[in-house]
Amino acid sequence: MDIYTRYKSLRQRTEDICRPLAIEDYVVQPIVDVSPPKWHLGHTTWFFETFILTPHVQGYQPFNPDYNYVFNSYYETIGNRVIRTDRGNLSRPTVDDIYRYRQHVDEAMLKILSAPLEPEVSDLIVLGIHHEEQHQELLYTDIKYILGHNPLFPAYDVTYQPPTLKSTSTNDFIRIKEGLYEIGFKGDGFCFDNELGRHKVYLNEFEISNRLVSNAEYLEFINDDGYSDFRHWHAEGWDWVRNEKITAPLYWHFIDNSWYHYTFRGLEPIDLEASVRHVSYFEAYAYAAWKGLRLPTEFEWEVAAPNFTWGENWEWTESAYLPYPGFKKAPGAIGEYNGKFMVNQKVLRGASAITSPGHSRLTYRNFFQTNLRWQFTGIRLAK
Ligand SMILES: [Fe+2]
Repeated sequence: MDIYTRYKSLRQRTEDICRPLAIEDYVVQPIVDVSPPKWHLGHTTWFFETFILTPHVQGYQPFNPDYNYVFNSYYETIGNRVIRTDRGNLSRPTVDDIYRYRQHVDEAMLKILSAPLEPEVSDLIVLGIHHEEQHQELLYTDIKYILGHNPLFPAYDVTYQPPTLKSTSTNDFIRIKEGLYEIGFKGDGFCFDNELGRHKVYLNEFEISNRLVSNAEYLEFINDDGYSDFRHWHAEGWDWVRNEKITAPLYWHFIDNSWYHYTFRGLEPIDLEASVRHVSYFEAYAYAAWKGLRLPTEFEWEVAAPNFTWGENWEWTESAYLPYPGFKKAPGAIGEYNGKFMVNQKVLRGASAITSPGHSRLTYRNFFQTNLRWQFTGIRLAK
């Protein structure tokens, strides 16, 4: 697909994700990690305006210069911004204003995309496309959180069907031989800077499950009082369980002696066959410990992944999110994209059912803090 068509369909898809929303759904921010949908719509647009149109298109007039303050996420280089916890306190710009902002930026973008581009500009546009794809997934997870924490449990879309993956019926462990393996991105296509610095890693022989832990299996952990036994948990995880009164994955509700969970279609009985989703790293670790097993490292995952189906849930790994050898930040604001987050987070590998099509790859490194579980996160065991 050429970059012009890719840009157009990207921008359309973002708006399609928001189509089932009521105006009020666009505005709220129930917790700090969840941004209002209208903020995602504005921020992804701001990215193209700030990094492509303003510096590279002569005479470009920003839609509204004050939007820089509202839609800058975390770029210190770009200046002051609304603090993250205040994103849901802004009734203006309105949703209509933001859709007009998108249109203004799209017109200017499509104009430059119709002519030959300098490689530097074209690389930035490709980064902007991948950035908006990341926010498409965040739109899904943030919308789910907003609706799933409303006492009425409104459906996002009663007909919603997740993309189906080739499922693995048998539960087997795949054995991978010890040896020296190469880790990191290689090739001509796009990757994020955190995947670069391809390097060798020595792995001991290990075994990894060919499928994710199911809801039925996770229920055994719950029914065995896994959430009440400190022995399975890290100290921090145990504090988290006790302070937050955690007794099940996010979105699970025990009603009339049965487990239900909130899905995009509303509240539904738990599907026992489906893989468990919306667990934190703490829970993934505790489950594995209870089983007498462990989580794979991100290197083991990357080496083994061609042998199993992935893409249903992001998979917690035992690896801290660290720079690869030789990691370099790009100069300027773009250098703030990944590098400054390489502390106190765990790597997740794979992709989820709501990851934008074609967005992820074998070397892709997602990352979140150990207590977070509003993303589509699951568990794969290793030994
Ligand atoms: Fe962003």
